[in-house]
Amino acid sequence: MVQFNLPDNSKLVEGDHYKSDSESASVKSFRIYRWSPDDEKNPRVDTYEVDMDNCGPMVLDAVMKIKNEVDPTLTFRRSCREGICGSCAMNIDGTNTLACTKPIKDVKGDVAIYPLPHMPVIKDLVTNLKNLYKQLESIKPWLHITKKQDNDGIENIQTKAERAKLDGLYECILCACCSAACPSYWWNSDKYLGPAVLLQSYRWLQDSRDEARSERLKELDDTFKVYRCHTIMNCTQTCPKGLNPAKAIAGIKTMIAENRS
Ligand code: SF4
Ligand code: SF4
Ligand code: FES
Repeated sequence: MVQFNLPDNSKLVEGDHYKSDSESASVKSFRIYRWSPDDEKNPRVDTYEVDMDNCGPMVLDAVMKIKNEVDPTLTFRRSCREGICGSCAMNIDGTNTLACTKPIKDVKGDVAIYPLPHMPVIKDLVTNLKNLYKQLESIKPWLHITKKQDNDGIENIQTKAERAKLDGLYECILCACCSAACPSYWWNSDKYLGPAVLLQSYRWLQDSRDEARSERLKELDDTFKVYRCHTIMNCTQTCPKGLNPAKAIAGIKTMIAENRS
């Protein structure tokens, strides 16, 4: 297993300042967290001035411009630039969100960009989500169909009402913004599944075609996995897709109680 040296953020210092040579009045500063396991330097915040007249509208546009034109060592994840893949999740202006759907104009003053909070940092804005993916695997995010599989070639159809139960759940892109905003997950991420994984879990519990609902609920019926949620609602407030993980968790708690009786 790869071991990462983690930054000591209590030693965060002011880093380099990359000035823009543009005369334009629309130069904006981006203050970006930097840390590399490959050198002995403390974590730092570098400042990059970007001419907004020559930059796309989203924070990801500015970050990519910085990497392409100013500092190729700046490290971050991105893929779709459409709010679909979830890979560009970062803490921007104090909120966990997607860099590709966050308009720069919504940030007054300098744009502060940090990695998702309370996640181990691999480098700069790239966090290690291994624990979250292991937890996702643990809830078996796939359909359990046994009897119906015997009817080879026959579709497992849903009514419109059954399908509608998945709305507000299937749209989750697993960006981890919600889990990285949840205080319970910060302190207990080894045992508490956290809002992202629990919303996924609820998606499979709500699927009319799934035949393992009772087993899934028994697996979740544990002091830590679900019940560390204290309905603080940070998860719902931060979700860049407008989903409601706190409501999903409340739904799981109700289903667990019903499954016990
Ligand atoms: S619920 Fe929202 S914030 Fe959480 S992982 Fe899914 S899309 Fe991201
Ligand atoms: S409602 Fe639950 S999952 Fe959401 S932030 Fe609060 S404790 Fe975390
Ligand atoms: S790059 Fe895919 S969600 Fe932002």
